[in-house]
Amino acid sequence: QQKAKHTLLEAHEYTAKLYHYLLRNTEAGKPAMEYLRSRGFTDSLIEEFGLGYAPARWDTLTQALNRKEYVPAQMEAGGLLSRRQEGEGWVDRFRDRVMFPIEDAGGQIIAFAGRLLSDGQPKYLNSPETPLFNKSRTLYRLHQARAAMRRTRQAVLFEGYVDCIKAWSAGVHNGVATMGTALTAEHAAVLKRFADEIVLCYDGDDAGQAAAHKSIPLLEGAGFHVRVSVLPNRMDPDEFITNHGPGAFVREYIEGAVSAVKFQLIYLRKSHILLEEDGKIRYLRDAVKIVARRESPTERELLLKELAQEFGVSLDTLKQESLEVRRQEK
Ligand code: GTP
Ligand code: MN
Ligand code: MN
Ligand code: MN
Ligand code: MN
Repeated sequence: QQKAKHTLLEAHEYTAKLYHYLLRNTEAGKPAMEYLRSRGFTDSLIEEFGLGYAPARWDTLTQALNRKEYVPAQMEAGGLLSRRQEGEGWVDRFRDRVMFPIEDAGGQIIAFAGRLLSDGQPKYLNSPETPLFNKSRTLYRLHQARAAMRRTRQAVLFEGYVDCIKAWSAGVHNGVATMGTALTAEHAAVLKRFADEIVLCYDGDDAGQAAAHKSIPLLEGAGFHVRVSVLPNRMDPDEFITNHGPGAFVREYIEGAVSAVKFQLIYLRKSHILLEEDGKIRYLRDAVKIVARRESPTERELLLKELAQEFGVSLDTLKQESLEVRRQEK
């Protein structure tokens, strides 16, 4: 068991080196290099993140692992090879993809994510669940981010690998990403060892905002103070950094991330039509519910004051309504 895991770790290390070499030093890797350059990846980013390229052929890795005398069935169990659909034998799992090595908290490579160079499905192919790789526990870049997390007691959460990389190059060194799956209680428990505050920096599109909304109770339940970064025009962090630069990103969207409750109020607006009296009343009622759930009386008062001002109702009325909600939910 331990021996098998050790062998798999070695095979991942070897595979990452091979993919990196193929990206950097071969003709086959050129389109992938051009793709990465077109997305703003510098040589030093490619090196630092150990990016690679899995060629389009079916047997590049299969042959290489075979030469190293790795047992193909074991490599299949490790997610590096797949069984041939027809006939006997194995083929490469990852083909014609830019490869992102995924490390565990100790910095050992345990999986890969591979991105297509052009449109197609699936855009990202990840390693499957293996003896080394558990998606609901793993956080991309945790090994490198944990020092800055400990120092700042803050962690920044991204949806995408590229977002995490570009944010790192913008100076956000406490950022990690999930594996394209929802945030889990296990992720939260891992992060709790290093940080007390989470900044959710998900994509600005509806899916990203909905994911942020869902993650708030999970994270607050785990004891985190949560803030949310709401990117404009449905952009994701990578797109924002590319278009507006690293400085604006850090200032306005990391340092300037809003509190969880502010985000919940912004999010709530999307489902109400505030131009109509009816919509306003419903929005205010739901907004007061959100505010009423905050434990701090000061926070409640400040938020109610803002709502009262914006909607031209008295603070007393909103306070009464908030107390009513608190009584009911007790
Ligand atoms: P780029 O297009 O390369 O910038 O990726 P992105 O990170 O912006 O992708 P997107 O916002 O569509 O998705 C966010 C994350 O979800 C990705 O980083 C992946 O982890 C994951 N994801 C996206 N597409 C797929 C897919 O087709 N399959 C799987 N398994 N995961 C995906
Ligand atoms: Mn290199
Ligand atoms: Mn998205
Ligand atoms: Mn995205
Ligand atoms: Mn993107």
